[in-house]
Amino acid sequence: LRALSTPMRPVVALGRGALDIEQLRSIESAIETYSPRLLVNAAAITDVDRCEREPDLAFRVNADAAGRLAAVATRAGISFVQVSTDFVFDGSKREPYVVTDEPSPASVYGRSKLAGERAVLQTSSEALIVRTAWLYGVGGKNFASRIFEYAARTGRIRAIVDMQGSPTYAPDLAGRILLLSEFGAGGVYHATATGSASWYDVAKLAMRLASWDDVVVEPTTVAALGLAAPRPAYSVLRCLLSERLGLPPMRPWEEQLADFVECCPKPELRQ
Ligand SMILES: NC(=O)c1ccc[n+]([C@@H]2O[C@H](COP(=O)([O-])OP(=O)(O)OC[C@H]3O[C@@H](n4cnc5c(N)ncnc54)[C@H](OP(=O)(O)O)[C@@H]3O)[C@@H](O)[C@H]2O)c1
Repeated sequence: LRALSTPMRPVVALGRGALDIEQLRSIESAIETYSPRLLVNAAAITDVDRCEREPDLAFRVNADAAGRLAAVATRAGISFVQVSTDFVFDGSKREPYVVTDEPSPASVYGRSKLAGERAVLQTSSEALIVRTAWLYGVGGKNFASRIFEYAARTGRIRAIVDMQGSPTYAPDLAGRILLLSEFGAGGVYHATATGSASWYDVAKLAMRLASWDDVVVEPTTVAALGLAAPRPAYSVLRCLLSERLGLPPMRPWEEQLADFVECCPKPELRQ
């Protein structure tokens, strides 16, 4: 979001040190300092396997703290956006999920984020819930964000082939959030790149775009990795509300990935 800052619309991005969303005093102090017009909550416990082990922490941050943040913002007359996730769906559908589909999270993370959505909407019907998916960007922690780091280490990447989703580049999501906050009424929005892929497809294309053709990309499955949290096998999202607003679809995932590959710092590739 910070990259979208302009003199007319300055954006500040605060980490946990400057704003701990679990602490009421910290929230109030940040609001006093910055007097924002819009508050976007992207803070969360996002390690889905850790959430299985630490459900109390997941619900405290992803649900209770999100609701508290929204309540303080609403009382202060600040517009509020809660970033949410495709994990609110169990992934059993085989066509894009729309906002009228009933959420059915299969993991603690998904349940805590859904509880967060509900806590936020309870404080204000004007709030925007923006569900995104497969988010990555420079400096991020997940698979796509660190793909060059992994590839450089051994010259091989194992990438999941049996999940289908829409890999979404964080700067594209940030732009969409600002657009929605300007045009949209309160409610639940889906905001992902257009098209869908597996992590295997993402890894293959990223290596090709970077001309790291010697890197071996090996397909693997969710089951083979023995991960603690269930992941939706299919989580492509479609946004009925954005379509009704006449907003164009977000860019195809391949285009977004190309931008990421271009600006992502790359470590030395071991030969
Ligand atoms: N990554 C995805 O694929 C994906 C997909 C769909 C939706 N989302 C949603 O998108 C948002 C951003 O995700 P991300 O991938 O950027 O996650 P991330 O890299 O894990 O960032 C989340 C941030 O929240 C911070 N945080 C945790 N507890 C906090 C607290 N009490 N107060 C303040 N900050 C706190 C974390 O700080 P620490 O590092 O200090 O813990 C971390 O910097 C989240 O709402 C997530 O649910 C992500």
